[in-house]
Amino acid sequence: MKVYDSILQTIGHTPLVRLNTLADDIQATVLAKVEYFNPGQSVKDRIAIKMIEDAEKEGYIKPGGTIIEGTSGNTGMGLAIAAIIKGYNCIFTTTDKQSKEKIDLLRALGAEVRICPTNVDPEDPRSYYSVAQKLSEEIPNSYYPNQYDNPSNAQAHYETTGPELWDETEGKITHFVAGMGTCGTVTGAGRFLKEKDSDIKVIGIDSVGSVFKEYFETGSYSEETIAPYFTEGIGEDLIPGNYDESVMDEIIQVNDRNAFLTTRALAKREGLFVGGSCGAAVYGALDYARQKGLGSDDVVVVILPDSGTRYISKIYNDEWMKENNFMSASSSLKAIEIVRHRAEARDVVSVPPDTTLQEAIDVMNENKISQLPVVNQENNVIGSLTENRILNRLIEDAGFRDAPVSEIMDQPFPVITGDMRVDQITQMLKKNTTAVIVKHDNGQMDILTKSDIIHALSHAKSNEV
Ligand SMILES: Cc1ncc(COP(=O)(O)O)c(C=O)c1O
Repeated sequence: MKVYDSILQTIGHTPLVRLNTLADDIQATVLAKVEYFNPGQSVKDRIAIKMIEDAEKEGYIKPGGTIIEGTSGNTGMGLAIAAIIKGYNCIFTTTDKQSKEKIDLLRALGAEVRICPTNVDPEDPRSYYSVAQKLSEEIPNSYYPNQYDNPSNAQAHYETTGPELWDETEGKITHFVAGMGTCGTVTGAGRFLKEKDSDIKVIGIDSVGSVFKEYFETGSYSEETIAPYFTEGIGEDLIPGNYDESVMDEIIQVNDRNAFLTTRALAKREGLFVGGSCGAAVYGALDYARQKGLGSDDVVVVILPDSGTRYISKIYNDEWMKENNFMSASSSLKAIEIVRHRAEARDVVSVPPDTTLQEAIDVMNENKISQLPVVNQENNVIGSLTENRILNRLIEDAGFRDAPVSEIMDQPFPVITGDMRVDQITQMLKKNTTAVIVKHDNGQMDILTKSDIIHALSHAKSNEV
């Protein structure tokens, strides 16, 4: 029988998935390691089991003991699952910044959760680090894994994530990109990969408002750098023991807005329903690939640490995104609103199929337009003419001037309804069409081009401020 003896055996060996539409302007191969395939739906399952098993080997915890950790949810989930199978209790401390979903999940797995204030110093007795520390001193037979400073964290990634990536890419990986929270992932997997091939670049993703980038570049950080931000799981206000500068090549900071819009794009355009730090990591990786002009021999691997289910009431909630100014009203613009935004009202200029090409060119010149729908007597769009198409035909044979457009025309522009969203229209315009036709309920039609969308978006944005 093909069975696992417990859910713990299903940790790791997560799939490596190519990014397609998000990376379509990048020559390099961009691959995502999708960690929500772990049983606790995050990368942290890997370190949870390793920290517990190492503690058992060292005799730090005995059967029936209590695991106490300061966790933003994912490590707690991994620890809680491992604790169930291995027979331990769990108490977690976390901050009031964390999603309610994450906390409810921990409680569902039998853990006790204490919520502590976010905006206090780590040394403050109210901080979630201090509370976890104190509980571990007070409760007998308790173990405080302390993922920040525990070497088993980075070691878990050295033993699993790193080798998986090396094998799955057949040693072709050239860039490794991972968010930095405890730094276990970037340090452990980065170290393994660099030992295999010292040319592999290790790029850490930090959040604006966190200290890692400044510390990496200057050797210290100013208290003024520390600022609140929403992205969960990455960035810190202290340097964890698992941070190892020797494996790092570069640290990129990503702000909440770019992180969250990319998170949503991963869901909508790649079908990857992931958490906010995943958007940060992908935004950073794509930006890096563009800036450095990475080529077709480059293989960039990005870690996607967790699932979107934990962020439904935040990143995936339009109202929350708008309230926090991460999403403008313009990103939910509909086709009909774009038509209304147009500088001047204009009727669709079209030609019937029996018009000659020369007549069609004259119509385009008179109206200063570069594409033209071909519409039959029944008001159906049956074809299209674009400058490119016309040019190609005339170069082939100038005699085409006198041919009816029905012989020259291209596929019709896609016909959409007025309620299609701007991001969906933009996707269509990125493929092989230069315009779309908006057909209204009353049969009237409008044509939308890229320049109409740019106009509408820039207009909507300036209104917003
Ligand atoms: C959602 C999420 N992303 C990224 C990270 C960063 O990984 P690491 O702690 O290994 O640096 C974490 C860590 O807590 C996380 O929870």
